[in-house]
Amino acid sequence: MPPRRKKTVQVIHGPNLNLLGEREPGLYGSKTLREIDSGLRALARELDLGLGSMQSNSEADIIEKIQKGDFDLLIINPAAYTHTSVAIRDAISAVGKPVIEVHLSNIYRREEFRKHSYVSGVAHGQISGFGPESYYLALRAAAKILEGRSAKGPSAN
Ligand code: DQA
Repeated sequence: MPPRRKKTVQVIHGPNLNLLGEREPGLYGSKTLREIDSGLRALARELDLGLGSMQSNSEADIIEKIQKGDFDLLIINPAAYTHTSVAIRDAISAVGKPVIEVHLSNIYRREEFRKHSYVSGVAHGQISGFGPESYYLALRAAAKILEGRSAKGPSAN
């Protein structure tokens, strides 16, 4: 039997997340994006997953990465594009890979305009409000989804 290919998770951090650590720490915490990514890499090793990570302030770059589809599952924090981008939603639908939407802050406790996400309707699920832990929870959920043990409701295990 050929060796099993390691499943790969791609993480996309959207606009302004390069400023984490200095940007509104009361809302987003004091960890930098580098620190979050290195925590994700360590967890991916533990979970035996391949991991790619990118940050972009450009909607076009994010869409091109999604269209490439060179991953088994996508974890995306679309940041402000969450609330504006039909184009990112359409790219996700076109590629048809499972997606977990992540937010550091609880977007439902903030301004009205943040309560609507264009992405959540095409995502497997959304994790919002746990700071950097939102990403780590998403990666653990990703491992389960990729094992075919998706937590899809009370009867799932
Ligand atoms: C965010 C929430 C968005 O509303 C905001 O535009 C961001 C970050 C979060 O991670 O909490 O840039 O996605």
